[in-house]
Amino acid sequence: MARHLITSAIPYINGIKHLGNLVGSQLPADLYARYLRGRGNEVLFLCATDEHGTPAELAAAKAGKPVAEYCAEMHEVQAGIAEGFRLSFDHFGRSSSPRNHALTQHFAGVLAEKGLIREVSETQMYSPTDGRYLPDRYIEGTCPNCGFDSARGDQCDNCTKQLDPVDLINPHSTISGATDLEMRETKHLYLCQSVMKTEIETWIDSKTDWPVLTTSIAKKWLNDGDGLQDRGITRDLDWGIPVKKGSEDWPGMEGKVFYVWFDAPIEYIACAQEWVDAGKGTDWARWWRTDKGAGDVTYTQFMGKDNVPFHTLTFPATILGSGEPWKLVDYIKSFNYLNYEGGQFSTSRGRGVFMDQALEVLPSDYWRWWLLSHAPESSDAEFTWENFQASVNKDLADVLGNFVSRVTKFCRSKFGEVVPEGGSYGAAEEALIAELSERVRRYEALMDAMEVRKSAQELRAIWAAGNEYLQSAAPWAVFKEDPAQAAAIVRLSLNLIRLYAALSAPFIPDTSAVLREALKLDSLDWPGDLPEALSALPAGSAFAVPENLFRKISDEEREDWQQRFSGKRD
Ligand code: 2FM
Ligand code: ZN
Repeated sequence: MARHLITSAIPYINGIKHLGNLVGSQLPADLYARYLRGRGNEVLFLCATDEHGTPAELAAAKAGKPVAEYCAEMHEVQAGIAEGFRLSFDHFGRSSSPRNHALTQHFAGVLAEKGLIREVSETQMYSPTDGRYLPDRYIEGTCPNCGFDSARGDQCDNCTKQLDPVDLINPHSTISGATDLEMRETKHLYLCQSVMKTEIETWIDSKTDWPVLTTSIAKKWLNDGDGLQDRGITRDLDWGIPVKKGSEDWPGMEGKVFYVWFDAPIEYIACAQEWVDAGKGTDWARWWRTDKGAGDVTYTQFMGKDNVPFHTLTFPATILGSGEPWKLVDYIKSFNYLNYEGGQFSTSRGRGVFMDQALEVLPSDYWRWWLLSHAPESSDAEFTWENFQASVNKDLADVLGNFVSRVTKFCRSKFGEVVPEGGSYGAAEEALIAELSERVRRYEALMDAMEVRKSAQELRAIWAAGNEYLQSAAPWAVFKEDPAQAAAIVRLSLNLIRLYAALSAPFIPDTSAVLREALKLDSLDWPGDLPEALSALPAGSAFAVPENLFRKISDEEREDWQQRFSGKRD
């Protein structure tokens, strides 16, 4: 049994995420985790909330709550929504956990010992109006790289360049809007990434199978201008992990915390420790330490393209620089952006559908199917209500739902709620089995390769093949002349439902469970040999006609939702 460690980029704590965030990391990670588990692998799938830094402080201030309280509440909210979308994390941790504090301070201590952290006296943006320094998101301005006018102090969302607040052109405070900013002298720690450039480059060059989106972003920032720059890893903020060298104080760093992007990826490791602390596992080191058995783990990370520089450069610099035997990522699956109805999703303007709202409108499988079958892999993708309606009505209702309904209802009316006996498979059945054998193997290869959209297409084709077979085999017509032959057609069709339940589980887990229960099965094995899998439900097994699997979206509903989510979330 192979072992797979899977992490999804950990969402910021500041509010409920929109569907674009979901499809860019957590959802495809869940698809992959479910698939690998379904195929019998041992999987550890981790995610957490990213609770430090300016996003958390700003959101807590807006909510009028102490930041620790705000984070604790929002963590529960996000955990509940993740459950609503059936995200099957083995643990959903918190970057503010004591485990992450200790581990982050440990890494800083080790990196300092190796000479990879230097203290720098530098000028930082100080706002007399706000009475504080303005790190990261407390400041916005024009990106010096691409000219985007709302670049944040730490990164430009438009061109993904990592920035420092002092780089911005025409900066202003996002708290007060003040532009009368001063440069003040203060001391910070820098991670000496530049000396690790060759090591990181060699490592990235060895990843010839990575998606072009991942390697192209990594190489862009490796070779941009002067190459890999040293990065400030401390901030003048109240909330965060206090700067320490292991468990010792760091003279001169009193009152400062680590930069959120230094501690967030370390949470991937701390989360495994939290998983053990929560009593869900017994041995985290087996997943994370190559000296303790993690050598045979395959580690895959999922994230949106804006996260790629931190995962290909900064976090590997932390891991490699430590010189300790931590597991390095094996594969980084990154995603482009999902747009919304001709523009961008906007958290601040409430434009687009947010995760909680989506679940109020329709069950999670509808969203999972649309999002995954339209995942922004090779380019940005766009959510439109029309496309969503068409996809749900055609793929889910007309193809899968209709097949299940026709087969089970026809069987009930002619043979009762039991797999019928009699007849035998002829040329049409053999042809279908041969076609499906090929398609299922292709589906597996695509899922192994994390080709999300193409996997969805293949799954849809597998559903459609059953529908076409049923249409042309027409058991309702055959029954009149040859009931035994009609029984054989229905028996194969009921077995197809079982096959669909197993294959579709990673995409639409709730529907898969409904089908499994309808067939009165306790578990579903992944299909090996297809002829065998398609005779797994023998004549005589009982089933129950399931409720309608999917309902269609009407034009009125679509228009209503279009209107409701066009902006200004209430
Ligand atoms: O972009 C984001 O939502 C970040 N919170 C992702 C962090 S991923 C990591 F490194 F932990
Ligand atoms: Zn830019």
